[in-house]
Amino acid sequence: MKSFAFLLLSCLLLPAPATAEEDGVRAFSPCRACHSLDPAERGLPGPNLSGLIGRAVADDAEFDYSPVLRKARDEGLRWDRKRLETFLADPAAMFPGLWMSMRGIEDATERQALVRFLADPSSR
Ligand code: HEC
Repeated sequence: MKSFAFLLLSCLLLPAPATAEEDGVRAFSPCRACHSLDPAERGLPGPNLSGLIGRAVADDAEFDYSPVLRKARDEGLRWDRKRLETFLADPAAMFPGLWMSMRGIEDATERQALVRFLADPSSR
């Protein structure tokens, strides 16, 4: 609710406000070096992230995951919005030994925009 009020306020105050969608696209741009949301795009350093929300952890059959992510998959863990947001805040804290060299995203608004974008990339 607070972030909604902030959004509303920034829409009123800023001459050319960035929409939440644009924020999500921007937040995903550093991820593109390693991840794609297009199921047909292969061969990147990280697993394909299409349809991530609702999907099992470590579910890209063509990707060779680390032991920690394979274990999470075997335990039946799935990606929902909440888990993804916690992950993005500090990936290695959730999965110690993760093979993803990316620091967490500190800004909660940016994380939420990214989660929304990953949940519905067609909002681009
Ligand atoms: C330098 C390359 C790199 C970057 C940049 C990167 N990742 Fe990753 N990501 C990986 C790798 C490699 C894995 C697999 C890690 C493992 O097996 O331990 C991974 C795994 C993941 C997973 C788990 C996927 C699954 O199938 O369960 C998610 C979600 C994810 N990354 C999201 C992101 C997001 C969002 C960003 C940008 C904010 C990002 N990553 C940036 C390399 C990267």
